[in-house]
Amino acid sequence: MPRRGATISAGLLHLLVLAALFALGTAAICPNGCICDDDNLVVSCIGANLDVIPIALNPSIQRIVLKENRIKIVDAAAFQFYGDLKNVDLSSNHLFTIPNGSFDAQKQLVELHLRHNKISALTEKTFQGLKSLTVLNLRDNYLESLKNGLFASLSKLEELDLGKNRISKVEPGAFQKLGTLRVLHLDDNQLRTIPSPALAPLNALAELHIGWNAFSSLPDDAFKGLEQLTVLDITGAGLDDISDGAFRGLNALRTLELDGNKLREVPTKQLAVLPRLEELTLGQNFFTTLRSGAFQGLSKLKKLDISAAKLLTTVERGAFSDNANLETLVLNSNKRLTTMEDGSLAGLPNLRHLMLRDNAFTGFSESLVAWNELRRLDLSENPLVCDCSLLWLAEVLVPRNSSPVLCAEPQESKGKPIKGMTPDELGCAFSDPRKQALLATLCAAGLALLTGLAVILYYRCRRHVRDALKDYKWKNRAISRKEHEYQKTFSDDEYIVRSAHPHHHHHHQPQSQQIPSHHHHHHLQQQQLQQQQQQQQQQQQQQQQHSQIAAGIKPIPVTEL
Ligand SMILES: *[C@@H]1O[C@H](CO)[C@@H](O)[C@H](O)[C@H]1NC(C)=O
Repeated sequence: MPRRGATISAGLLHLLVLAALFALGTAAICPNGCICDDDNLVVSCIGANLDVIPIALNPSIQRIVLKENRIKIVDAAAFQFYGDLKNVDLSSNHLFTIPNGSFDAQKQLVELHLRHNKISALTEKTFQGLKSLTVLNLRDNYLESLKNGLFASLSKLEELDLGKNRISKVEPGAFQKLGTLRVLHLDDNQLRTIPSPALAPLNALAELHIGWNAFSSLPDDAFKGLEQLTVLDITGAGLDDISDGAFRGLNALRTLELDGNKLREVPTKQLAVLPRLEELTLGQNFFTTLRSGAFQGLSKLKKLDISAAKLLTTVERGAFSDNANLETLVLNSNKRLTTMEDGSLAGLPNLRHLMLRDNAFTGFSESLVAWNELRRLDLSENPLVCDCSLLWLAEVLVPRNSSPVLCAEPQESKGKPIKGMTPDELGCAFSDPRKQALLATLCAAGLALLTGLAVILYYRCRRHVRDALKDYKWKNRAISRKEHEYQKTFSDDEYIVRSAHPHHHHHHQPQSQQIPSHHHHHHLQQQQLQQQQQQQQQQQQQQQQHSQIAAGIKPIPVTEL
């Protein structure tokens, strides 16, 4: 093979050059377009137009970055001078194959990045010798199948990224001996079923990203054996059916992403076997309603994101009734979502982040949630009808810095932020309900007062009328002065005391209406006598009376108090 011959001779040539350089005591060569950091033992040749891996570098380098070059092949000779390498980045080159044993000498290598190349074939000998490798990135290549034992020599591997390839076949032993693997990306491939037998030995797996495949359904026990799995991402996998027992055994699962599928109902029963689930993403599916109890059994759920669900119209009362720990609810870009039934967010004492952006809400109910308890609130991009019923919202938004919540209607408010709008701007007849209530109370109080006054006036007038009437009668009887005098002495106790407070007398009048009618006679006498006295005795009388009171002649009759 001429190619092989050429490679070997090139290798030999490089070896000779290197030997010559060392013999001459010259420092290692740093190729054009590279940065060679001898202190940190890093060589970086990003976009340096390299066709081959440079071999005349410092042999002690620990990290080499060869991103964005035109390197087509990694051969066994390429890295043999760099036995201390810990990190190799060959992303975005033109690699199409990696010959058997290319990394035989790389006992220290921890990370190998081969992302965005054209690698289509790998064998179980490709990675032999990589005893320390913990990160292998093969994302965005042309892999079609994963053969048994392919990664068997990578006994320390923790992260394996096989996303964005063309993998349609995973043999049952493809991941054997990967007992320490923590993160596996198989997303964006051409899998038609979950490769359950291949996944089963991954006892330590914590994250599985397997979305953007074409599963259509998940059978029972699809993830059997993944007892440590905490994150499962099945986004965009064409799922229209999830078997009741699909998630069985995922006892440690905290995060589940199921958005971008074709689910026509929230998979309530299927999710109920996930007692530790804290985050659920379920948007871009085909359900129309979040039913009461939709997330039953998910008592640990903290974050729920249902966005871009095209057909979703309604969130029923009690939809989150089992999720008292919910802290974040994101319902964004659900273009038909118009209804959140009253009580749909009741019983969520921990809710702090509520995102309702870009839906079809024309308004919100003040009683939907404890608005002022929310730390983050986004109500923007909804077709709000800014009328008086949203006055509370205009006030709630005032102290907040959230994205502007604009009115869609009425015409005169279109495009204006509702935040801080006045009752007038919102077309309120009387400001807000609280003020209305206050106003009503004041009206009632005023009315009561007026009624009271009217009653008092009525009684007063009635007395005046009676007085006048009696006056008239007495005049007719021609009661003499002497009689008056006599009456005066007859009831002098009372008279004296009363006339001691001549100025108060009139003020006491309203009170006297409570006096039984047989006392009116006394009043009449008092009034008449008083008038006389005021004319006759003014100064002298007052002194006299004061001294009389001071002497404690007799207390004011109880009925007069
Ligand atoms: C690489 O190893 C595999 C598996 O042992 C073998 O089938 C294949 O022929 C080898 N390739 C070369 C070029 O030697």
